[in-house]
Amino acid sequence: MKIAIDGPSGSGKSTIAKILAKKLGISYLDTGAMYRAIGYYVLSNNKSPDDEKAVIELLHGIKMDIWDENGIQQVAVNGQNVTPFIRENKISMAASTVSKIPAVRIKLVEIQRKIASKTDCVLDGRDIGSYVLPDAEYKFYLTANSLVRAQRRQAELASKGEILSVEKIKEEIEKRDEQDKNRTFAPLVICDDAVVIDTSFLSIEEVTDTVLNKICK
Ligand code: DC
Repeated sequence: MKIAIDGPSGSGKSTIAKILAKKLGISYLDTGAMYRAIGYYVLSNNKSPDDEKAVIELLHGIKMDIWDENGIQQVAVNGQNVTPFIRENKISMAASTVSKIPAVRIKLVEIQRKIASKTDCVLDGRDIGSYVLPDAEYKFYLTANSLVRAQRRQAELASKGEILSVEKIKEEIEKRDEQDKNRTFAPLVICDDAVVIDTSFLSIEEVTDTVLNKICK
């Protein structure tokens, strides 16, 4: 069983995907963490995520490892576990910018498909239903208004000690949405066969139940 959950930042994808994987006893892959790991690595090497040539040069030397540690996905780049650093706010835009580069996507999608081929799983991201696993049995597209998404993201960042205004985060996620939807290669789109759920005014339980009802019917 393959389940694809796509949608913009703060729509609740990863929260729902994690709960779903646990309830169904299947694996979970957060594909955004992989783009974040590349964004982090590019910034750590003092390169600009916009510098396609420099990113591709770095990409050739990157070995990415993904594993589960007590139910929490870990990502390492060339042996360094980057998981503690990739959720920082500055990494979000870097991840979105490097994700526009086809070579980056091709490399990461290959890893994602390999992982998915081995097990029943739920993947969350932007292009899972449309590009990574177009044959997934179940496809969901979660969305929410940008203010609600910014408030959720602010709470997530605050829980990790990064305090930012909702206005700034809202501006950034709208810019990121724009970038993710308008890139030429595998952009964020709503698949014709996806179930669309607006989570703006729904609780986590309500969204989980809606998704489970579709799967278990
Ligand atoms: O889901 P996230 O916010 O952690 O993702 C960070 C960025 O990575 C997102 O703005 C675009 C990119 N991304 C992507 O292009 N394709 C995916 N499947 C997942 C994430």
